[in-house]
Amino acid sequence: MKNFTLLLLFSFLMLGYANAQRENVNYEESKIPEYKLPDVLTRFNGRKVKSEKVWLKKQRPEILELFANEVYGKVPGELGISEIKVWESSDNALNGLAHRKQLSLFFNKNEHHLEVNVLMYLPKDKENVPVFVGYNFTGNHTVINDPAIRLTESWVNNNPSIGIINNQVTEQSRASDEDSWPVEEIIKAGYGLVTIYYGDIDPDKNDFSDGIHPFFYHENQLNPKHNEWGSVAAWAWGLSKVMDYLEQEPLVDAKKVAVLGHSRLGKAALWAGANDPRFAMVISNESGCGGAALSRRKIGETVRIINTSFPHWFCDNFLKYNDNEDKLPVDQHMLLALIAPRPLYVASADGDKWADPGGEFLAAKYASAVYEFLGVEGLPAKEMPEVNQPVMGTIGYHIRSGKHDLTLYDWQQYIKFADKHYRGK
Ligand code: GCU
Repeated sequence: MKNFTLLLLFSFLMLGYANAQRENVNYEESKIPEYKLPDVLTRFNGRKVKSEKVWLKKQRPEILELFANEVYGKVPGELGISEIKVWESSDNALNGLAHRKQLSLFFNKNEHHLEVNVLMYLPKDKENVPVFVGYNFTGNHTVINDPAIRLTESWVNNNPSIGIINNQVTEQSRASDEDSWPVEEIIKAGYGLVTIYYGDIDPDKNDFSDGIHPFFYHENQLNPKHNEWGSVAAWAWGLSKVMDYLEQEPLVDAKKVAVLGHSRLGKAALWAGANDPRFAMVISNESGCGGAALSRRKIGETVRIINTSFPHWFCDNFLKYNDNEDKLPVDQHMLLALIAPRPLYVASADGDKWADPGGEFLAAKYASAVYEFLGVEGLPAKEMPEVNQPVMGTIGYHIRSGKHDLTLYDWQQYIKFADKHYRGK
C-alpha cells in the first residue's frame, strides 16, 4: 500500500513535470538555436559517399546501426510467427463492397505467448491487391462501424469518454476512430486496408514486463539493455511480422505494401520502413519528434520532453541526448534517407506545432539528397509548400490545415501518391 501511494505520488510529480515542460516549449522559429546537421552523404570517417555501392554497403548500414543503438534500440533476437489462424471472413462487408478477413498471428516462446489480431478489408473478388498497413490506437473495432469485428481483449489506455475503463474496451468504443479510417474510399480506390491494434505487440506504458519484450530476456532480466528496443522499435518489429504474413497471403500484393502510421505510430512506421525494405512505400502522418522532425531544431516537442513523458518509447541510450541534441550522431533526415529510393510521404498539420511541421519538411528535403544520388526525384519543393498544397515526387509532402489528426484529406493524398507510384497515374 505504501509503495502504491509512493508510486501515485511519483506519477503525479512526473505528470506535473511533463506539463510544466509543455508550457516552456519553444514555438518560435527565431529562437531555434544554431545547429549543424550531419551530412547524410558524408561518411562517419569524413569521406564523401561517391558510389551507390558505398551508400548501400557502408553508409546506409552505419546510419541504420546508429539509429538502432542510440535512438530506437536493437531487436535482441529472432522470432517468427508460430501460427496463423483465420477466424472470420466475409464477402459481404461494407454492404457487399469488400471482403473482410480477421485472423490472429500467434507468437510463442517458452512460457511467453502473444496473440496479435489482424483486420483486413480488401476489394472484393480480386487477388494480389496493393494494401495500406497501419496500426490503430484503440483496437480494430474502433476503425469502422462493423459489428462483426471482435472487441480487443488487450490492455488499452483508459478513455472513459468512449467507455474504456480498467484498461478494457467496451462496445461503446466501436467505430470511435472511424474518421481516421475511410475504409470505403480506400476500397473504392482499389486498395486494401490491413490494421492491427498496436498494444497487441506492446501495451503503451512504461512497463517492460508485458508485450513482446520479455520473450527475449535472459534469466532474471527485467528490462531491455541500454541499446535494446523500446516500444517504438517493438511496434516496428510487429509491422514486419505482419509483413511476413502478408507475403503468404494471395489476396495481397506483397510487393505493394505501404506502411502508414499517425503520430507515435508514424514513428513506428518510419522505423519499420527503414529496417524492412519489403515495405514498398512509407507514410508518416504527423510523426513529429523521434519521427520525421529534425531533433536539432528543438522546437515543439524535444528529445528531453519525449524521453520524460514517454520513457519507454526509445532505448535508454537516447537519454544521453536530452538537451544534448547536437551530440546525436544522426538526425531524422537520415532516418528518412534510409527509405530511399522507395516512395516516402511525410505529412504535417499547421495546427500541430508540437510535431514541428517545419522540421518534418526540412527532414524530407534533406533526405532528398540520397534519393537524387540514387537517381530518382526527391522532394519537388525547396521551400515549405502552402497549406493544403501537396507536392509529390518520390518523396511527397503536405501541410494540411487543422489539428493533429489522421483525416480523410490525408488519406486522399496517400491514395493519390500510391496511384502515382503503383499505377503511373
Ligand atoms: C504525444 C507525444 C508525441 C506523439 C503523440 C501521439 O503528443 O508527445 O510525440 O506523436 O503523443 O502519438 O499522439
